[in-house]
Amino acid sequence: MNSGSLILLIISVFSVIETAYSWKFFHHGRVIDKSHKLGSFENEKPSKYERWITQNLDHFHPTNERTWQQRYYVNDEFFNSTSRNVAFLMIGGEGEATAEWMEEGSWIDWGKEFRAICFQLEHRYYGKSHPTGDLSTGNLEFLNSHQALADLAFFIEAMNVKHELSPDIKWIVFGGSYPGSLAAWLRQKYPHLVHGAVSTSGPLLAKLNFDEYYRVVADDLRLYSDECLEAVQEGSAQAEVLLKHPLGQKNLDKVLNLCDPIADNVNNTDDIANLFTNLAGNFAGISQYNKDNRKSNRKHNVTLDTLCDIMVNQTIGPQINRLAAVNSLILNISNQTCLDYKYDKMIQEMKNISWDSESSEGGRQWTYQTCTEFGFYQTSDYKPQIFGDKFPLDFSVQQCVDIFGPEFDMKFQQKAVDDTNVAYGALDIEVTNVLFVHGSVDPWHALGITKTLNNYAPAIFIEGTAHCADMYPARDSDLPQLKAARVQIQQQISSWLDWNLY
Ligand SMILES: *[C@@H]1O[C@H](CO)[C@@H](O)[C@H](O)[C@H]1NC(C)=O
Ligand SMILES: *[C@@H]1O[C@H](CO)[C@@H](O)[C@H](O)[C@H]1NC(C)=O
Ligand SMILES: *[C@@H]1O[C@H](CO)[C@@H](O)[C@H](O)[C@H]1NC(C)=O
Ligand SMILES: *[C@@H]1O[C@H](CO)[C@@H](O)[C@H](O)[C@H]1NC(C)=O
Ligand SMILES: *[C@@H]1O[C@H](CO)[C@@H](O)[C@H](O)[C@H]1NC(C)=O
Ligand SMILES: *[C@@H]1O[C@H](CO)[C@@H](O)[C@H](O)[C@H]1NC(C)=O
Ligand SMILES: *[C@@H]1O[C@H](CO)[C@@H](O)[C@H](O)[C@H]1NC(C)=O
Repeated sequence: MNSGSLILLIISVFSVIETAYSWKFFHHGRVIDKSHKLGSFENEKPSKYERWITQNLDHFHPTNERTWQQRYYVNDEFFNSTSRNVAFLMIGGEGEATAEWMEEGSWIDWGKEFRAICFQLEHRYYGKSHPTGDLSTGNLEFLNSHQALADLAFFIEAMNVKHELSPDIKWIVFGGSYPGSLAAWLRQKYPHLVHGAVSTSGPLLAKLNFDEYYRVVADDLRLYSDECLEAVQEGSAQAEVLLKHPLGQKNLDKVLNLCDPIADNVNNTDDIANLFTNLAGNFAGISQYNKDNRKSNRKHNVTLDTLCDIMVNQTIGPQINRLAAVNSLILNISNQTCLDYKYDKMIQEMKNISWDSESSEGGRQWTYQTCTEFGFYQTSDYKPQIFGDKFPLDFSVQQCVDIFGPEFDMKFQQKAVDDTNVAYGALDIEVTNVLFVHGSVDPWHALGITKTLNNYAPAIFIEGTAHCADMYPARDSDLPQLKAARVQIQQQISSWLDWNLY
C-alpha cells in the first residue's frame, strides 16, 4: 500500500461505538458462551435432574484414596421400566454441563424413541465438578482425558447398580467436540461397558500446530465469495500498515475500539499477536458455529453471511473499516465494551487458581489440557495467510509456559501430543460400533475421521454444517443433508441395539 492510500484509510475511519474482549469470545477454539448457563453459580436453583456421585481423584494410583463429588444429570422419563435395557450417556466436556440438554437435543429425541434412561456426566474440573480445592498447576495433575474416561467407566458401573439396569443393558454414548473424541475413546477402552458411540465433531488427531483451522475458515469465507476472503486479507494487511504509523495507531484505537492505546504497545509482539488472534477469532467463532441451532445463535442470528455482507460492503469504507465493523458487531453480541488485547492481563487472569475466577469457567482448565494433551493451537502459519502472520506456533506454546511454568515448554508439549496419539491411535483408531459425524464448515473436521474406513465405524460428513450441528434440536429450516444425517444416526443406533455382538 502506498502512503496515499494510507492517508485515505486514516481519513475515512469509521467510528465504532461498541467493542469487546474477543479472546473471551473465542479462546483456543472454545467459545465462552454464558447463554448456555442456567444462571450464575450462586443463585442457580439445582435442576430436578441434578445428582452427585463420589469418584476417586486418581483412578490409576490405588494408594491415593482421595475422593470428590462429580455432578451428573439423569432423566428417566422415557425409560422402559420393564426391559430396563437401554441407557444413553451424554459426555460432558470443557465447560459446565447444563440441565437443558436433559430435555432437548437430538439425543433426547432418540432417547424417547428407544425408551432410554438418559444421563449426562459433567467432566472433572469443569462446571461444579471440583476434584480439588483450587486450580493450582499441581492440582491440575488429575485433569486429563484418561482420568475422565475412567470417571465415565466407573459412572456406568455405578448407574447399572443404582438403577438396577438389566444384565443385557446397552449403553450408547454421545459427545460433541472434545467429548466426541471421548465418546470414541470410551468405546475403544471400555467395550464391555459401552455398546455404541456417536462421536460428533471429535478431533481425534492431537496436533500442536493446528494451522489447518484457518485454512477451513478461509474455505468458509470463499464459499460466500472470493471477494469476502480477499477483503478479510486486505483488511488485515491494512491493520499491519496502520500499526507502523502514529496516526494509523490512533485510528486503530478508535476503529477497533481498543481498551488500551496501541501506540504504547506496538513493540510488544505478544500484544500484537493477541490483537490479531482476536481479529481472527471474530471469524473463527462464527465459522465454527455458523447457523447451528444453539441458544446463543437463536438470540443474535449472526452468521458468516452477516460477516461477509459487512466485508464486501464498500459503503463502510476501506477493508480495515469493514473488519472493524465486524469487530464491533462481535463485541456487541459478546457483551463487551472494548477490545482487550493486553497479553499480560490475559495471562494474569488465566493464572488465577480460584474456582470463583472468570477463567475457571473453563479457560484455564482447557488451556491446561491443550498444553498437556492436545495442542490444537490455531496459528497464523497456514499459507496463504488471511489474518497476517503475527500469531505463529511459538505464541501459543509460550502461553503454556507463561501460565503454568517453564517446564511446559515446546519439547514437553510436543511429547504430550505424541503420547496422546500413541494412547488412542489418532486417525488410525481401532474401534467398532462408533459413528463419526462431522460438518464441512467446521474447522475441527480437519482433525477428525470424515470418511468411512471400516464398516463397523462409519463416518457421516455433512456438507455445509458447522461444529456439532447434528446435536442441536432439529428445525424445519435445517439443511436436507443435516436432516438426512440425523435419520442415519438414528438408524445406526437402532441397528446397534439389535446387535448382540461386541
Ligand atoms: C418395554 O419392554 C418390554 C419388555 O422388553 C416390551 O415388551 C415392551 O413393549 C416395552 N414397552 C415399550 C413401550 O416399548
Ligand atoms: C517502538 O520501537 C520504535 C523503533 O525502535 C521506537 O521508535 C518507539 O519509540 C518504540 N515505541 C515504544 C512505545 O516503545
Ligand atoms: C433471528 O431470526 C429469526 C428467524 O428469522 C427471527 O424470528 C428472530 O427474531 C431473529 N432474532 C434476532 C435477535 O434478530
Ligand atoms: C452497507 O453499509 C451501509 C452503511 O453501514 C448500510 O447503510 C447499508 O445498508 C449496507 N449495505 C448492505 C447491502 O448491507
Ligand atoms: C449492543 O447493541 C445494542 C443495539 O444497538 C445496544 O442496545 C446494546 O447496548 C449493545 N451492547 C453492548 C454491550 O454494547
Ligand atoms: C451485559 O453486560 C451488562 C453490564 O456488565 C450486564 O448488566 C448485562 O446483564 C449483560 N447482558 C448479557 C446478556 O449478558
Ligand atoms: C482471582 O479471581 C477472584 C474472583 O474473581 C478474585 O477475587 C481474586 O482476586 C483473583 N486472584 C488474583 C490473584 O488475581
